Amino acid sequence: MISPQQLRARIDRLPRVQLAHLPTPLEELPRLSAALGGPRIFIKRDDCTGLAFGGNKARHNEFILGRALEEGADTLVWGAGIQSNNCRQTAAAAAKLGLECHLVLTTDHAEIEFQGNYLLDHLVGARIELNSEPMGPPLWNKIKEKADSLRSEGRRVFTIADPASRAAAAVSYTLALLELREQLDQQAVRADAVYFSSGGSTGAGMFLGRKLLGWEAILEAIMPIEWPFDTASYMVRLATDAAALLELEPAVTLEDVQASPDYIGAGYGIATPESLEAISLLARREGILLDPVYTGKAMGALLADVRRGRWQKGHDLVFVHTGGTPALFYHHRDLAPRFDSAGKEG
Ligand SMILES: Cc1ncc(COP(=O)(O)O)c(C=O)c1O
Repeated sequence: MISPQQLRARIDRLPRVQLAHLPTPLEELPRLSAALGGPRIFIKRDDCTGLAFGGNKARHNEFILGRALEEGADTLVWGAGIQSNNCRQTAAAAAKLGLECHLVLTTDHAEIEFQGNYLLDHLVGARIELNSEPMGPPLWNKIKEKADSLRSEGRRVFTIADPASRAAAAVSYTLALLELREQLDQQAVRADAVYFSSGGSTGAGMFLGRKLLGWEAILEAIMPIEWPFDTASYMVRLATDAAALLELEPAVTLEDVQASPDYIGAGYGIATPESLEAISLLARREGILLDPVYTGKAMGALLADVRRGRWQKGHDLVFVHTGGTPALFYHHRDLAPRFDSAGKEG
């Protein structure tokens, strides 16, 4: 175990660049609790990190791009799905820091539409290359090829796909967990469980923080994607790499990681009925916007657990809103049928 002060001091040693509006608010959702007749529910507003509509990647990029600047990079190369929040926030950060940003985006299972994140990528000046590779290792190879070709032209390339970047991203969520614990203490809330969307660094960093601080709360990572490898083991590896960056012993094992594939539905990026219901419930009860790909599915899991009686009055839950709201505009066809012309839910 390590004290919050000691952990913060370790994190403060790492290279970092300021990008996010921090701390993000921790707010109570009383009208959602009333609708469920259940536990108190709090929301950690990481959708409010600021840069180009915010989200969890603004935190990640503070540590990833801190390393890029320290290494003297002039070019960033990154990629993911065509509606990637990560790529949108990375391209915006590159614009702010004066770096050239190349995005390698896949159209696998998605339409090419100038909407949502893809529209914003163009707006902030990213140089975009499209392909139709599946997400995961095949796409990561394309990103590597792009990085190698720019290097051969003499560019000082930094690519976010390397393991050290993923570990740096995880550290940002170890810090976010510290921030959340301080806010819970200030508001005298004892969280029983924390729900969030993750299949990678965000969860890895939170599981590491929980273990290092000896926190009792249950952490529920709700996976947005089924990787072609074991997600829990992947998170353990990322958490171990993050501990190494902090010069701490490996702390997280498989028993510490709870990552559920149960809410992915038909696949990554495809809205589920549960995610659409969660989006309209939060919007209509609290005026808070979720997204269909990540936070809607994670909130769907929280709602399902409350409705099946796992959490009741007397329990306190936290939902970490990791962002992703620009994708709402791409998913307008999924959302529109939920509402009739008078604005009532259909
Ligand atoms: C809105 C949102 N939530 C959650 C995640 C998952 O983050 P991670 O890959 O760090 O688990 C992402 C990843 O792109 C995201 O865009």
